[in-house]
Amino acid sequence: MSNWRHKPDEKGLRRLVAPTKSVAKWLKTRKDFVIGVGVLKGGTGKSTTALYLALYFALVLNLDVVIVDTDDNSQSISRWVLQHEALGHTIPFKVIVHPRTGADAISLKKRLKSLEGKHDVVIVDLGGGDKETFIDLCARARLLLMPSAPSGWETDRIQATLQTAASAAVLNTEGIAVYNFFTKCDFGTTLAEEEREAMAVDLSDEDEDFVPPPFLHPYFDVSKAPHHVRSWTVMPKRSDLDEWGLLVRHAMLGIIEEEEAA
Ligand SMILES: Nc1ncnc2c1ncn2[C@@H]1O[C@H](COP(=O)(O)OP(=O)(O)OP(=O)(O)O)[C@@H](O)[C@H]1O
Ligand SMILES: [Mg+2]
Repeated sequence: MSNWRHKPDEKGLRRLVAPTKSVAKWLKTRKDFVIGVGVLKGGTGKSTTALYLALYFALVLNLDVVIVDTDDNSQSISRWVLQHEALGHTIPFKVIVHPRTGADAISLKKRLKSLEGKHDVVIVDLGGGDKETFIDLCARARLLLMPSAPSGWETDRIQATLQTAASAAVLNTEGIAVYNFFTKCDFGTTLAEEEREAMAVDLSDEDEDFVPPPFLHPYFDVSKAPHHVRSWTVMPKRSDLDEWGLLVRHAMLGIIEEEEAA
């Protein structure tokens, strides 16, 4: 369930999201669509976002998807895969472990170069605080998503992340679309509305580097439905992927229009 407080009517919703079939066809033809999921802070919902998007692209859109797990500390995605394989589940996407240290360590720039032409969608799950990898990600991703719960405790590092993304984006030759959204939302409260307002307060008088948070339409906030928490051992159902599908079809609308017009 998306954020019912901001639900557009049917026609309005159609205008906000790219149609499923055209997204699938566009991605298959284009290939190498790199989505980064990154906030320079731990625990904001990055790996869950990467996982649900990968499941949506693979199971609903039938695409060839790989997740690059850059998180040296927790390696949540790689461990999630091991966990589900042990339970006999079929994993519909590939995972590449991207270690930061040791003999196999290479830069994310090199890693993404080595994947060129091989997959329809590449999703990079960023570790909480690795700035160098984040900069490589901003230089290559076409879409960068910054999930966080609607709480100052989680959004605290979003401004610093946006500033880093803004300076790294100049290295990106294709162009990068950057979006914030709230996840882990209880739509029975107005926390998302309150936090969105708090984050949009422009402190530019005192801070000339202030970057206004580029929020997705608030309808596409993601719920804190229990299946997200259970997904450590329970494979999400197709219907659990619906709100993620809407979110990413919304985030991709402008990118598809822009690239098709070029
Ligand atoms: N939409 C959601 N609803 C409920 N719980 C969620 C949701 N998204 C994430 N969580 C929970 O929040 C916690 C942190 O999520 P996650 O591991 O995805 O964050 P992360 O940003 O990848 O953390 P890290 O920086 O450690 O890699 C987990 O317990 C996860 O189950
Ligand atoms: Mg993680």
